[in-house]
Amino acid sequence: MRKTGILTLTVIFLTVIILALSGCSARVVDHQQVAKNEEIVIKFSHVTAADSPKGLAATRFADLVRQRTGGYVEVQVFPNSTLYKDGEEFDALNRGAVQMLAPATSKLSGMFPDWQLLDLPYAFPNLTYIHQLMEGPVGKKLLAQLQTRKMLGLAMWDNGFKEFTNNKRPLVRPRDFQGLRFRVMPSQVLVDQFAAVGASAYPMPFNDVGQALATGMVDGEENTISNIYTQRFDRSQKYLTLSDHGYLGYVVLTNVDFWNSLPAWVQKVLRDTLAEVTVWERAEAKKVNEEQLKVMDKQGKVKIQHLTPAEKEALQKAFRPAYEHLSEEIGRSLVRSVQPGAP
Ligand code: LMR
Repeated sequence: MRKTGILTLTVIFLTVIILALSGCSARVVDHQQVAKNEEIVIKFSHVTAADSPKGLAATRFADLVRQRTGGYVEVQVFPNSTLYKDGEEFDALNRGAVQMLAPATSKLSGMFPDWQLLDLPYAFPNLTYIHQLMEGPVGKKLLAQLQTRKMLGLAMWDNGFKEFTNNKRPLVRPRDFQGLRFRVMPSQVLVDQFAAVGASAYPMPFNDVGQALATGMVDGEENTISNIYTQRFDRSQKYLTLSDHGYLGYVVLTNVDFWNSLPAWVQKVLRDTLAEVTVWERAEAKKVNEEQLKVMDKQGKVKIQHLTPAEKEALQKAFRPAYEHLSEEIGRSLVRSVQPGAP
């Protein structure tokens, strides 16, 4: 009898050790058995359309997480500023009203001026260069800064390169920008970029841009093809210049306290799924931007202007004062680490 008792205790002890060592990673959650009050709900708020690259990726992420956790983790996606808009999102994340965001990197620059590096016009030859930059020491430095505000950067998603739109005239040479008013995301580099060519820039939340363009409050804006198309900016803008001058990408963010409250196996599922969705998102963003440019071209509502390499170079030169100002603000060596030839 005593022997059986000792044997049972040993079996229980060994089972506990094996489960602990496996980190419970083999936990299988049966959706049928997950009570509503046991689920982990992640509210994921963003400002673009559901069929934009970011919107599509957020939905895919939510679907995969639901499948992989058997419904234990439910990611609820709120696109199009329906839950929180620009200017409200970070506070919502901070106080736990939402658990995930994917703001454009430019929107971090008020809190973290170094992030303006990614806004520099004509600083990056292609998107791969930016991916590598964000995986290297510069990216690690930028991502580490987020933690000081209780934010954790989980992934970097692309949209693509921005183009100029306006309804006054085709924009080709630097002097074409003279006197025009543009909406920008809140980043001093973007304000400086337009000032360098004699234009003025007004930071404004994304969900207000359509109306500002339609009422003539501003003459133009800069954005990727997918944002121009899905927000119907092409309906109120006469001219689109394929300038590819600036990067628009996103950092997928969560709240550090929320993240730390999650079981290790859930963190792993979220991280692995995000890594997979990031690869998909980057390819999808490229595809969506290319396809929507073709559609806009065919619809002919906006006049599309292509630029020659020489015309891009002239714009690049004209925008150089933006590099000077940023070097004064965050230090020349950081700016040069992104653009070795920067002034
Ligand atoms: C914008 O405000 O123009 C963009 O950042 C919107 C977005 O998230 O793509």
